[in-house]
Amino acid sequence: MDNEPVLDIRNLKTYFYNSKNNTVIKAVDGLSLKAFKGKITAVVGQSGSGKSVMALSVFNLIDEPGKIEAGDIILNGRDISKLTKRERVKVHGKEIAMIFQDPTGALNPVIKVKNQLMEAILIHEKVKKKDAIIRCEDMLKKVGLKNTDKILNSYPFELSGGMCQRVMIAMAMLTNPSVLIADEPTTALDLTIQAGILEELFKLKELGMAIILITHDLGVVAQTADDVYVVNRGKIVESGNVYDIFEKPQHKYTKELIESV
Ligand SMILES: Nc1ncnc2c1ncn2[C@@H]1O[C@H](COP(=O)(O)OP(=O)(O)O)[C@@H](O)[C@H]1O
Ligand SMILES: [Mg+2]
Repeated sequence: MDNEPVLDIRNLKTYFYNSKNNTVIKAVDGLSLKAFKGKITAVVGQSGSGKSVMALSVFNLIDEPGKIEAGDIILNGRDISKLTKRERVKVHGKEIAMIFQDPTGALNPVIKVKNQLMEAILIHEKVKKKDAIIRCEDMLKKVGLKNTDKILNSYPFELSGGMCQRVMIAMAMLTNPSVLIADEPTTALDLTIQAGILEELFKLKELGMAIILITHDLGVVAQTADDVYVVNRGKIVESGNVYDIFEKPQHKYTKELIESV
């Protein structure tokens, strides 16, 4: 980890406020993490530990009653946490993309898949529509979809959850961002498709993408990750190279996670 990180999350704090009983959930509470080019950085932790809130915070997608209270998000050397909405549009998708845990969050149910995928390209690049469609179709095939012509002409609500998930993965990969955050990208998919998607992420890493893979599945981590961050109650309790984390876990929580599989 000696070179410059592509994404550097520093001291992120995202809290949710319950006004009814005056309580605060410190979902992410002083979390720092670095992701590097050509590496898969896994973020592991139990359900509710703050993994998804971390990812959403990077994209400034936290709504009331939540609030990002602190933190810098340094992407390719630039702090993106204070960008205006308009500036952010230029960065999201092109420099950093996300695969959401819940695909319904990312796809508009009433716009054809074709138009949503093409938009991901055309918002950032000047290419002919015809060429954009070819790229979309190739990408759908890469994530293991067949009948790509039919899918391109479907609305997301006509597709299964697993298909939507793969469309979203294709969308995130279309613009070749320098960072891809994948939040439990395979949880909803069956094992063969899961393997195909992980293989695809692995290829992207080999091509130099920095990938943050959020998962509660330590088997997936052992197979794919270079670096591992273990998160508990919104804080990193341990981080390091994948071998060290599995061979000599230091923290009780990490040991319990490993023992539970
Ligand atoms: N919109 C929200 N309102 C209130 N609490 C939330 C909201 N979203 C997440 N949380 C809380 O933040 C914590 C972390 O959630 P999350 O990041 O989704 O966990 P993970 O992805 O690790 O399973 C949980 O305690 C969850 O209840
Ligand atoms: Mg989650």
